[in-house]
Amino acid sequence: MSTTATAFDPQTLEGLLTDGGKVLTAPDDLAAYGCDWTRIYDPAPLAVVLPKSTEEVQAIVRYANEQHMALVPSGGRTGLSAGAVAANGEMVVAMDRMNRILDFNANDRLVQCEAGVVTEQLQQYADEQGLYYPVDFASAGSSELGGNIATNAGGIKVIRYGMTRDWVLGLKVVTGAGEILELNNGLEKNNTGYDLRQLFIGGEGTLGFITEATMKLARQPSNLTVMVLGLNDLSNTMDVLQSFRSKLDLTAYEFFSNEAIAHVQAHAEVPRPFETECPYYALLEFEATSEGVMEEAMALFEHCVEQEWVVDGVISQSEGQAEKLWQLRERISESIAPHTPYKNDLSVRISRVPEFLNEIHSVVSKEYPDFEIIWYGHIGDGNLHLNILKPADMEKQEFFKRCETVNDLVFEIVQRYEGSVSAEHGVGMVKKKYLGFTKSAEEIAVMKGIKKVFDPNGIMNPGKLIDSD
Ligand code: MLT
Ligand code: ZN
Repeated sequence: MSTTATAFDPQTLEGLLTDGGKVLTAPDDLAAYGCDWTRIYDPAPLAVVLPKSTEEVQAIVRYANEQHMALVPSGGRTGLSAGAVAANGEMVVAMDRMNRILDFNANDRLVQCEAGVVTEQLQQYADEQGLYYPVDFASAGSSELGGNIATNAGGIKVIRYGMTRDWVLGLKVVTGAGEILELNNGLEKNNTGYDLRQLFIGGEGTLGFITEATMKLARQPSNLTVMVLGLNDLSNTMDVLQSFRSKLDLTAYEFFSNEAIAHVQAHAEVPRPFETECPYYALLEFEATSEGVMEEAMALFEHCVEQEWVVDGVISQSEGQAEKLWQLRERISESIAPHTPYKNDLSVRISRVPEFLNEIHSVVSKEYPDFEIIWYGHIGDGNLHLNILKPADMEKQEFFKRCETVNDLVFEIVQRYEGSVSAEHGVGMVKKKYLGFTKSAEEIAVMKGIKKVFDPNGIMNPGKLIDSD
């Protein structure tokens, strides 16, 4: 659903924004607010509206229902599945101006935020309270909490702390029908039937707007220590994980290929972790709370070397060194970005990761021997990022078309392994046509039914996640 430019009058909409929200229609604003980090689709929104309150969001939704106008909720626009793209004359509703931290309760360890709070702002606020917001990823400096919740963002600490869903104890939402709902009120326990909060988490803005969230905070971790290990055989990443996990409570277990490191080195001048060059690397993190923990970690490392699972390794001796080692992993995405990567974000049960990766790699490299393939990901969660880089001389649309051709082969493998076509990036527009490889037709039909309940006129983020019937 979308409206036409002639039917839309910015002043009428602005007149509904009684708390100071504003409407933007300048071409630069439309271009900036109409896209996310996917860059596959050209932005073409009708206008951008920046509300200041939940009531203003409600007024916008009511107006959109009357006008049959499609709305696209927009946070930090760092998504990788085109969930926040407005390419078809939709109205972008950006939460940037609803960016206040509203309340904090130390006894509850709860912080109440507006949806436009930037992830890093929440992390810093938690730190100032002597607490910790553990959901973390490379785009934390730009991504906004509402978007994180709408996409159930994961990141680099999921192995210990779970995904965004695990930290949301309350939501205020405006449904596509224009109702304001307060969901769960910050309660840890609340067994009163359907938990509607969970539908909005990961709902990709297809049911309504998240305007406020009550987030749980954790105790601060102490002396986070990082090891980077070099491996010759992918299957050994799992042996190493099981060894370390049996004795230490890992806060991260990440993986990247030698090709990924080469891009980080070239782009960001981050040095290699050690001289030995290996095809695969694992990065693990744990809290070195005592000398005993450090000795245990060293003993585990020696065991892995004796078993010939690990070829070389390095362990951080300070916070600064730990941060440097993290850069090897966290800067991969930005380092390959200039090569216009086609991204797949896959997951399987962790025990099956090595055979799954090898099978997909051989299919993609056989199909496209000239394309560079970069692997990295949150291997401790069974989550692999497959990035195919665009050859410099190939046109963007032609490249994406060829990558989509190989997708059917990749997703057939995903289906056979009972994995997911989107582990943490969401479905948006990019993965919508592949949803059936992970969810059954019956499940998708139920999802469509749920959407109808919350968004009877289909104005909320149409074309994302599922198609309306
Ligand atoms: C990451 O793990 O670095 C992010 O999910 C971004 C990406 O996959 O490029
Ligand atoms: Zn990731």
